[in-house]
Amino acid sequence: MKYEVLHMLKQNSNTFISGQLISDKLGVSRTAVWKYIKNLKKEGYMIDSSSKKGYKLLDSPDILSFEEVEKYLKTKYIGRKIIHMESIDSTNNKAKELADKGENHGTLVVAEEQLGGRGRLGRAWCSPKYKGIWLSMILRPDINPMQIPKITQIAAAAVIESLKDLKIKAKIKWPNDIIINGKKICGILTEMNAEMNKVHYVVLGIGINANLTKEDFQKDILNKATSIKIETGFTLDRKSFVGNLVNKFEYLYEEFEKTQNIESSIKICRISSAVIGKIVRIIRGENETFAKALDLDENGGLIVQYENGTRENLISGEISIRGLNGYI
Ligand code: BTN
Repeated sequence: MKYEVLHMLKQNSNTFISGQLISDKLGVSRTAVWKYIKNLKKEGYMIDSSSKKGYKLLDSPDILSFEEVEKYLKTKYIGRKIIHMESIDSTNNKAKELADKGENHGTLVVAEEQLGGRGRLGRAWCSPKYKGIWLSMILRPDINPMQIPKITQIAAAAVIESLKDLKIKAKIKWPNDIIINGKKICGILTEMNAEMNKVHYVVLGIGINANLTKEDFQKDILNKATSIKIETGFTLDRKSFVGNLVNKFEYLYEEFEKTQNIESSIKICRISSAVIGKIVRIIRGENETFAKALDLDENGGLIVQYENGTRENLISGEISIRGLNGYI
């Protein structure tokens, strides 16, 4: 009911709406309306209250709840339900827990802060409050587990395209890092629950360092991690960015759902690749080899050629790629 009150205030933003009208329309008492308003104020909504004129919404908080993101959404199913939390250990953990209980395809878990944010290969992911976009999508594709790396490439392409709309040129360090000026601003963690031939669900975690300052990062990662704000100087509007990102994702994901191909995403990833044409270090656990990155294959794998001429199509899994002398 609180959000129905909010909805009415939003529809009439910048004008007063009487408590009586809200109470009549929603069929609750005026005292109840007053209580909902009080709770909305606690959440950060700035609402002018006047005993004669009623309530007027002045400003909304910078949070990534459904109520705040909704107006940017053009999707059919992704983000039509957003489970929004102030603080959580990891949105991927929460999304897995919900998916285990049957949560639907397309639901998003979004947190303002993660206390145990996770990256690939067991790394930690720094996720300070209100500064970034920390979200996980629950997906239920009817595919073989071998196809899962494609979803990471779709997500990478969607992030690149959303940044492009803001005139921000970013690149992809295969398979899952988005970088600006050689440093990482976004990581993707795709996890799944599957049997041999059947995927039960996928949790697609996307972390975007939107408005973090240098002080938000631990010193030892400043040589490879950065934020959109540090690199471009402007503060990212997180709400519209999330909307645009899921719109792009759903559009690209539809191609995959219909055809099992990700041609459009691969095109975007290829053009924006930070590794194609370069000699890279391929790290598998303790093992390091050098090869030239040639191209992406149709599954989103990285085609590399070793010094002796042999080629290999790398599948994301447990592999990390680095530049010859550093991160990239
Ligand atoms: C990586 O680059 O290693 C992947 C980073 C993924 C971070 C995101 S933030 C939202 C979601 N929840 C997590 O705990 N991790 C992912």
